[in-house]
Amino acid sequence: MKKIAITGIKPTGVPHIGNYFGAIKPAIELANDPELDSYYFIADYHALNFIKNNEDLNRYTREIACTWLACGLDPNKIVLYKQSLVPEVTELNWLLCNVTSKGLMNRAHAYKAMVDKSLANGDDPDALVNMGLFNYPILMAADILSMNAKFVPVGEDQRQHVEMARDIAKVFNKRYGYTFVVPEALIQEDVATIPGLDGRKMSKSYGNQIPLFCSREELKKLIAGIKTDSSLPTEPKSTDCTLFNLYKLFASKEQCEQMAKIYANGISWADAKNALFEMMDSVLSPMRDKYNYYITHYDEVEKILTEGSKKTQIIARETVARARKAMGL
Ligand code: TRP
Repeated sequence: MKKIAITGIKPTGVPHIGNYFGAIKPAIELANDPELDSYYFIADYHALNFIKNNEDLNRYTREIACTWLACGLDPNKIVLYKQSLVPEVTELNWLLCNVTSKGLMNRAHAYKAMVDKSLANGDDPDALVNMGLFNYPILMAADILSMNAKFVPVGEDQRQHVEMARDIAKVFNKRYGYTFVVPEALIQEDVATIPGLDGRKMSKSYGNQIPLFCSREELKKLIAGIKTDSSLPTEPKSTDCTLFNLYKLFASKEQCEQMAKIYANGISWADAKNALFEMMDSVLSPMRDKYNYYITHYDEVEKILTEGSKKTQIIARETVARARKAMGL
């Protein structure tokens, strides 16, 4: 039988190209591994703890589902579902609460960060902590364990959460007999740092991002704004610059070698920007079109999510029944 891989995607709105190359593309490539049965879901139950209004949650959920489909997630190969359409997860969450020590949750980074923030404000340590945040790792364990997942592809920041899911599974299995597959994190190693418009790492907090689905015109404008030196058009250009580093992400190896030669022979920055724009747009425009299609035909996306959730429920229901029985319910 194939091993199951599962990962949750937080609904955080339309990502930038740094998110695409750093997280989305590698996650889709990994899930396409024919040795794996992959389940990817929009973690909307988890989002309740940081998105506090229903319109935002709805919009972000729609945007992120369309994004992953536009980026090439094939729902016939990877099951895409919405967490809140699989309420079995919340039942398991409760069962798991009873094998999880409070001390384990006290050690969670996200919780501790919120305590530090409360203290820094001069408030009670738990002033900013709700139970959704405190229990977040248990709900995540329920996502993973309900699906008998062996592998959990995540970024380094989620390593601790997967460790906690492992701990919880082991405690349960020890107390009630073997019930859950003990999962493992699949941490994406050495993911390339994607340069932003100013050459620093692309990040929303630096305001140097290129939105994944911005229009052709906007893309052109953003690239035009990239700073270059004052060398003359005929002078050789170093490939150690933001323009070339961005070009590399989108072009094939041969195209990169060719462009490096053009740089060495001298090219005006205006032409270099134009070459980057054409290269980026040729890759991004089919994705942008797909995104715009899905966002305006959201009923099709809903159908994908509903079908995915039904497939997920078949496994989750069985696992929860097993856990209930093991506990004497
Ligand atoms: N906590 C993850 C994040 O912040 C999202 C997530 C929720 C998740 N449930 C999961 C990831 C289960 C992997 C498996 O990105």
